[in-house]
This record gives sequence, structure tokens and C-alpha cells, in this order.
Amino acid sequence: MKIKNVAIAVSGIALALSLAACGGGSTPTADTTTPADGGGEAPAAEGYNLVPKDIDGDGYITLGFAQVGAESGWRTANTQSYKDYFVEANGFKLIFADANQDADKQKQDVRDLITQGAEVIDLAPVTDSGWEPILEEAKAAGIPLIVSDRQLSVSEDLYLTYFGGDMEAEGNRAVEWLTKYMADNSVAEAKIVHLQGTIGSTAQKGRSKALDDAVAANANWSLVAQQTGEFTQAKGQEVMESILQQNADFNVIYSENDDMTYGAIDALTAAGKKVEDYIIISFDGNKSAVQMVIDGKIDVIAECDPLLGPQVGDLIKKAAAGETIAKITYSVEGVIDSSNAAEKITVAFGS
Ligand code: AHR
Repeated sequence: MKIKNVAIAVSGIALALSLAACGGGSTPTADTTTPADGGGEAPAAEGYNLVPKDIDGDGYITLGFAQVGAESGWRTANTQSYKDYFVEANGFKLIFADANQDADKQKQDVRDLITQGAEVIDLAPVTDSGWEPILEEAKAAGIPLIVSDRQLSVSEDLYLTYFGGDMEAEGNRAVEWLTKYMADNSVAEAKIVHLQGTIGSTAQKGRSKALDDAVAANANWSLVAQQTGEFTQAKGQEVMESILQQNADFNVIYSENDDMTYGAIDALTAAGKKVEDYIIISFDGNKSAVQMVIDGKIDVIAECDPLLGPQVGDLIKKAAAGETIAKITYSVEGVIDSSNAAEKITVAFGS
């Protein structure tokens, strides 16, 4: 270890001890990948040698959070969990940047966070591609970068850690639920309307891949329509209205988030359809969506946890203290259906 690195490592540990004394933080819920120790300043990943630290010496780590936007109830809850957690009482300051669902704007947001004095950056990417130059810039500036919520198609050498959902696994849970439901209820065919999220986000790619794979593997499953609703209620409603106008014949709706599901249900209701006649599959787990499971309007929700702020904070503290952290940590998630909705609603996020 070089002399400079010793000094940085010692100051990182001292800061982490002071952060730990501030309290707060919760334990990440699942680790799936623990990389080899890189042997330099950062134990977190081979090839990545940056650890979070208080660069300006003001006693706090300043997190620059590059957020996707405000498109959904999930997103609102996610933003609030960061705003609640990254406060001085927990040893942090927060600079918040809202990309308004614009992948190009978000790249500039990350550059701006670097110049605004962020000491660690958390990137929740709108889409997963084209990030290499920006991540190289953050690395060259000595600012550790964490990826949260959605993953990136880049080398692991370009970021410290990922924390968030395993989107394909979420989709697989939804598909497995449908397979069992059809068998248990003698449903012969699945004629599916597929409302996709933001095209190019890993939330869309993973959930869509799970369904596409299942359709390819099951002769009695077919896609009647497949279109993006951009993770918003308004667009979900618009897409469903247009599908209904075409008199499409379908019995399953696979909607990649709760907000698009609300929009689809509004369109069905406005068209005089009985919502209970459809098998409705949703993603996320907002409180109002869980209530719709209890009311028999939504059949199943594949959970996606938005309350990432404290869990990311915990990872930053551990990395700052010199602890080895996993390269990828997936949230622990399941499904919500009529069997557990009454219990799940007591801990559901949002309204
Ligand atoms: O990336 C998580 C997804 O983004 C959520 O499922 C959706 O509601 C949000 O907009």
C-alpha cells in the first residue's frame, strides 16, 4: 500500500467510526456477489479503488443522488427514503438531481454532481447503456459511484457496488405465479396484454425478458399486445384505451408497475369491462395496489422495494470503514396475492 493510500484508508476508517456513532442505517437484506479484495484503497471490488470519504473535511459525506424522476408512486417513496436518511444526523449531506426520466439529462446531472462537490454519487439510471464515459469521469475525479435501483451494462470496474431489485427475478416470480394460477384454476390459455416500463431500463428489460421467455416456452401463452406505458398511470391508461378500441381479445394483463396498472384498470372500467374478469399482474407493491389485491381487482404483485436510502447509507458506512462489501446486493422480494395481502398491507409503502 502506498503512503498516500494509508492516509486515506485511516481517514476513511475514522470517518466511518464517527458515522457509526451517529447511528442510523439498516442491514442490507441480501448479498449475492462478494468480489475479491482489490488490495488498494478499496476492498469492495477488484479494479475499483475508491472508497467514500469526507473529502472537504466538514464532518459529513455529501451524497449526490442522480434520481430517475417522479414517474411513479414507487419513485416518490424511493426519493423520500433518501431525503429522510441522508441528513446530518446520520453523518451525511444530500445533493438531489431529478432527471425527469430523460437519460441524456441524467448524464449531465452526474457531471454536475461532481462539480457541485458530491463526495460519493448514487446513480439510479433511467436506462442502462452509454454510461462508460460518465463513470470514467467520476472515477478520474476520485468520486466513488454506487448504482442503485436499476443496473448498468458496464464493466464492474466502473462502480463500487449495486444495490436494488433483481428485475428478471421479479418477472420470473410473476410468471411462476401465473403458471400455477392457470393450473389451479383450469385456465386453458393466457392471451396477454403486456404494458412495459421505460424501454432500455433494466426494470423493463428484466421483467419483459421473464415474460418473453415464458411465452416462448408455453404454446398456450401468447402476446396480444406489447407496448410501453413508460411506468406512468396516464400512459398506461392511454395504451389500454387504444388496445380496447381495437377490440383485442385478452384475459391477462402483465403490467410492469402499479401506476400503469391503475391506468389500465381505469381504462377497463371506463369501457364498461368487469376488472375481475381479467388476470391482472402488477409490480411494486404500493399500499393502494395491495388494497386492490384485497379487493380482488389485482391478482398478484411482484414486489420491488423502494426504501433503499438507509440500506445504501449502511453500505457507504461499511465501505468507508474499510469493510468488504458485495459487488451486487439484491433486495429481498416476493409476491403479494390474496394469500398474504392483508398482512403485507400493514407494511406497504406509499399511499
Ligand atoms: O426501477 C423501479 C421501477 O421504476 C418501478 O417498478 C417503477 O414503478 C419505477 O418507476
